[in-house]
Amino acid sequence: MRIIETNSYAEMSRLAAGILGAQVLLKPDCVLGLATGSSPIGAYARLAEDCAAGLLDFSQVRTVNLDEYVGLGPEDPQSYRYFMEQNLFSRVNILPENTHLPNGCAADLPAECARYEALIDSLGGADLQLLGIGHNGHIGFNEPGPDFPRCVHPVALTESTIRANSRLFPRIEDVPTQALTMGIGTILKARRILLIAGADKGDIIHRALFGPITPQVPASVLQLHPDVTVIRATA
Ligand code: F6R
Repeated sequence: MRIIETNSYAEMSRLAAGILGAQVLLKPDCVLGLATGSSPIGAYARLAEDCAAGLLDFSQVRTVNLDEYVGLGPEDPQSYRYFMEQNLFSRVNILPENTHLPNGCAADLPAECARYEALIDSLGGADLQLLGIGHNGHIGFNEPGPDFPRCVHPVALTESTIRANSRLFPRIEDVPTQALTMGIGTILKARRILLIAGADKGDIIHRALFGPITPQVPASVLQLHPDVTVIRATA
């Protein structure tokens, strides 16, 4: 595991965009695993700038996102599909049909989870998976629990995650209570993992990277992956 410390969100974003961009340069038809949330916004903005400057070409890139809320369609400004369109997809030359998220509006959620897992496998798995981390150690929507979920699955969001995510909704009651997420097994199948964490995540980063490997801190499982880079802002 490589741990890179930076002293600002801007520097964390610059480095993360450099690693993501290098992946695209090395393998133009790569599969990028992507995350939503506050952590990757700066990196996505830099990727968009590099694409506009002609330095990066996303025309063959495929993407698979970690997760999506249940019940929010692509037009809903709170959906992760909408977030990705706003922050990345509409700002680079990626083909819409090459961008994938779980469908949180599917009638049959277990069938949708199986479809999404199979889709990731059919693309050959993620070459590089970008992750943020929750204050409770969640990655994707894999919350602390009795075991490490293997595959894409539906989850009930914990109270702390609903509270944390409510900052992006008009009212806490509007935060969906369920989501579909890649499992820990799905995430670990990625060939390389890039975890980014802002200055507010110092405690949990320390527990996840240096504490015991336990499903009570889902990100601690990353200690078992052979190719993880962590970029952490300390201020
Ligand atoms: C987002 C996701 C979440 C976030 C995590 C950190 O797709 O799966 O695990 O990465 O909640 O969120 P931020 O970056 O907003 O602190």
